[in-house]
Amino acid sequence: MEFFGAIAERYDSLAQRGMPRYGEMLGALVDVTPDRAAVVLELGCGTGALTVRLSARYPGAKLLAVDGAREMVALAQKRLRQATIRRTTDVSFEVRRFEEFELRPQTYDLIASNMSLHHIEDKAPFYARLHTALKPGGLFAFGDELTAALPHVEEVHWNGWLEFARQPDHLTEREISEIISHVEEEHYETLPDQLTLLKSVGFVGIDCTWRYLNYAVFVASA
Ligand SMILES: C[S@@+](CC[C@H](N)C(=O)[O-])C[C@H]1O[C@@H](n2cnc3c(N)ncnc32)[C@H](O)[C@@H]1O
Repeated sequence: MEFFGAIAERYDSLAQRGMPRYGEMLGALVDVTPDRAAVVLELGCGTGALTVRLSARYPGAKLLAVDGAREMVALAQKRLRQATIRRTTDVSFEVRRFEEFELRPQTYDLIASNMSLHHIEDKAPFYARLHTALKPGGLFAFGDELTAALPHVEEVHWNGWLEFARQPDHLTEREISEIISHVEEEHYETLPDQLTLLKSVGFVGIDCTWRYLNYAVFVASA
């Protein structure tokens, strides 16, 4: 959590300058969330980019946003306070690591997450807990970073990212090195492995609905 705590104030700027099609990805994720959801869980809210969108999409819902970095949660709370949406959604935040967060069975209509679940090393048991925590027919929708199955494809995606990162006004070489050193702590899956993992714990209606380079949006029903 130290990495995110340390970069929290710079995170929004880094995301805009360092993540190709970041806004499009968030939009694609929200597009595949259900029309109605009364109880929503967001994992890894960061500074609240998805939290604000979910809160606008589900007026009247109960939305709990969880993140392990206190500094990120503070910024998400601030962002929500400043958002120009009608604040009828009951949004609460919890500073907690996903691995330690209590997931009660059949509680949520929607579990959503963006760019956060690659921090989980052993995904199968975690996805199984998410499946159990969803109401029957509830939806798991998430965007995340992948790895490619073939080394030369990984190289194409990596070079695509570097090209974006090195555009004028995007990342400095120091910021690129900072991100690269953090990548070693992350646990990426290939796209087919993500689908297999979801299926193995009982999800149905599994799909990848958007992809650009190594970024993808998935949806699965409990
Ligand atoms: C790359 S940011 C994504 C933030 C936001 N969802 C977005 O789309 O911009 C990843 C977030 O996940 C949180 N995080 C990473 N690993 C975590 C873990 N094991 N438990 C809880 N939060 C975690 C970090 O603190 C960070 O805020």
